[in-house]
Amino acid sequence: MHQFTKTLVTTALPYANGPVHLGHLAGVYLPADIYVRYKRLKGEDIIHIGGSDEHGVPITITAEKEGISPRDVVDRYHQMNMAAFSKCGISFDYYGRTTSELHHKTAQEFFLDIEEKGIFQRKSEKLFFDRKADRFLSDRYVTGTCPICNNTEANGDQCEQCGTHLSPLELINPKSKLSDATPELRETMHWYFPLGRFQQQLENYVQEHEEEWRQNVVNYSRTWLNQGLKDRAITRDLGWGIKVPLESQEALGKVLYVWFDAVLGYISFTREWAAALGQSERWKEYWQNPECRLVQFIGKDNVVFHTLMLPAILMAWNEGRQSGCYNLADNVPASEFMNFEGRKFSKSRNYAIYLGEFLEKFPADTLRYSIAMNYPENKDTDFSWVDFQNRTNGELADTLGNFIKRSVDFTNSKFGGVVPIDCPPDVIKSFTVIQTHGNDDLIDELGNRVDLDDLVDEIGEAYEHFHFREAVSKTMDIARKANRFLTQNEPWKLIKSDRDAAAKIMSVSLNLCHTLALLFYPVIPETSNRIHAMLGFAGTIESLIKPGVSLWEQAKRPGLNMGHRLRETSEILFTKIEESDIAPELAKIEGLLADAVKREAGVEQQKMEFKPLISFDDFLKVDLRVARVISAEKVNKAAKLLKLQLQVGSVTKQVLAGIAKHYTPEEMVGKNVLIVANLADRTIRDEVSEGMILAVEGADGKLFVIEPQGNEINGRLIQ
Ligand code: MF3
Ligand code: ZN
Repeated sequence: MHQFTKTLVTTALPYANGPVHLGHLAGVYLPADIYVRYKRLKGEDIIHIGGSDEHGVPITITAEKEGISPRDVVDRYHQMNMAAFSKCGISFDYYGRTTSELHHKTAQEFFLDIEEKGIFQRKSEKLFFDRKADRFLSDRYVTGTCPICNNTEANGDQCEQCGTHLSPLELINPKSKLSDATPELRETMHWYFPLGRFQQQLENYVQEHEEEWRQNVVNYSRTWLNQGLKDRAITRDLGWGIKVPLESQEALGKVLYVWFDAVLGYISFTREWAAALGQSERWKEYWQNPECRLVQFIGKDNVVFHTLMLPAILMAWNEGRQSGCYNLADNVPASEFMNFEGRKFSKSRNYAIYLGEFLEKFPADTLRYSIAMNYPENKDTDFSWVDFQNRTNGELADTLGNFIKRSVDFTNSKFGGVVPIDCPPDVIKSFTVIQTHGNDDLIDELGNRVDLDDLVDEIGEAYEHFHFREAVSKTMDIARKANRFLTQNEPWKLIKSDRDAAAKIMSVSLNLCHTLALLFYPVIPETSNRIHAMLGFAGTIESLIKPGVSLWEQAKRPGLNMGHRLRETSEILFTKIEESDIAPELAKIEGLLADAVKREAGVEQQKMEFKPLISFDDFLKVDLRVARVISAEKVNKAAKLLKLQLQVGSVTKQVLAGIAKHYTPEEMVGKNVLIVANLADRTIRDEVSEGMILAVEGADGKLFVIEPQGNEINGRLIQ
């Protein structure tokens, strides 16, 4: 078992192709920051490295759409995202970008090393080429008609309308997005990374970590391993990216595949971090030192790139080396997704709350707290405005904020703003000073149950294992207990009869304020610093952090001695969120939702295309009737079908309808429905169908049968 003396934390590099949203924050950046801040409080050696992923096709597409250069696109979003992270208190030690010179150099070094070892393979294939634009077209640059649903605007990788994954070669009437020209097939050669060559090593690697890694991480990795790892093309014909570092003709116009370069960004940025410190070799202590633990925070959609692809690249590099070998990740805490008001965040559909935008309206710590309490650890979770409001008002303002303010205000007004007596360590440990109040029930209830040492240890354990929700909610439990302690002991009454007893209560309360400032620091650092300042300390909590000194342990013991002077003024830590603050946000969501629903239904993307015209006489041939459902049952071995007996005027008809996923037989009985009554019979699953029921399709594919209103059932319809 390894003894780790350092930790390197990395966070997935967001594409500099749009603003980061709350889903990214919840899954990756906030948990990483909380973890890192917790470890720093413990005095451990830890650094957090992140940055922008600035290559890849989506960036070139955005650039073309907006008529600007890819460089302009990445400059814009790199700055924007870095600023939003900083405003949110995400404390990167370094935030790099994959367009940097050193990153290009690093990625090329890796390519060359693996090339020289003869590990790569070369394969030729036929790809679409646009003659007008003089370029090969990646999947996303080809559009055409979907062979499945006839959508005329399907993309080369996927049809948005029916969701089918496609290859550009499957499209009917393929067109280049660059020029509208019909592309031709041309042969091109690419470098392939033979993942399969590392199959055994990777299986061992995953198995070694099986116990420790999250289930989803093991599952995604195993699924790939079990299918057998395939060769992956790691070059592209593209103008934007890291050039294949070879002089030969065959390398001309080729760049490294974005994922091959991006995962190496973690290394480049650590090098840049070290260089910026003026200790250019120091990065090796984190990457090439078996005593350093590597923890990579990502979202679940990035798992295999981190558990298979990056490790395989590093294995290739390490092969045949005595020194200068890279560490593989010890843990890859991948999150599930946090949804927003019941729906997936979607950059491409603009259904999102962007981090920068959010922080213009509400303070970072309220967001950090709410999101931490909704951390999608094992299952998808949901962020809603009402939940945000409740947590801010009920937990942050009424519990934590209220406790701190009352403690400081009362001490300022009754004890001249100084800690009136020392608080013995065993007293803060169990809050047992209550005894002085002479209320025996309370002693038993709180005195026996509260053990600060145990609580702090439990919270620490939860952080160590990435159980962020558990850790933060247990921290809030301590605030709740502290708040109750103050309320139930009523020092404002007690002081009239027993000043010493009131003094003890205030001493415990103030020391609990200090404890809470430290314990809450990982999740709401700015608030912790404000509490710290209110308690009369000059510097920030960061200024106390020292290697080898555990402020976390200090949270268990009294931090304020008798005579310690508080700041004279208190402040309200959290402003409550009123209905009127979130009303516009809720209204906005309704708009976004309506848009999303429309798009999903294809109303916006799909040009309305009607079938060829028919004559009025043709229309009159269709005999539409109102019918009543008299009985309904499921059909054996046909999960979608219901068999309905219909009364149409004086006639009964049997109709099979594909609505079993949408209606139970019981729901159908008694309904009036609209049918085509003169459709030729069809036999389905040995049952005859003598007509067709009309229904409409709703947004998410749900069917609604058309139900004519009115009581007259003679089957006649006015045409
Ligand atoms: N840009 C990718 C995304 O947003 C993540 C890249 S992570 C890295 O999904 F490892 F490649 F850096
Ligand atoms: Zn389709």
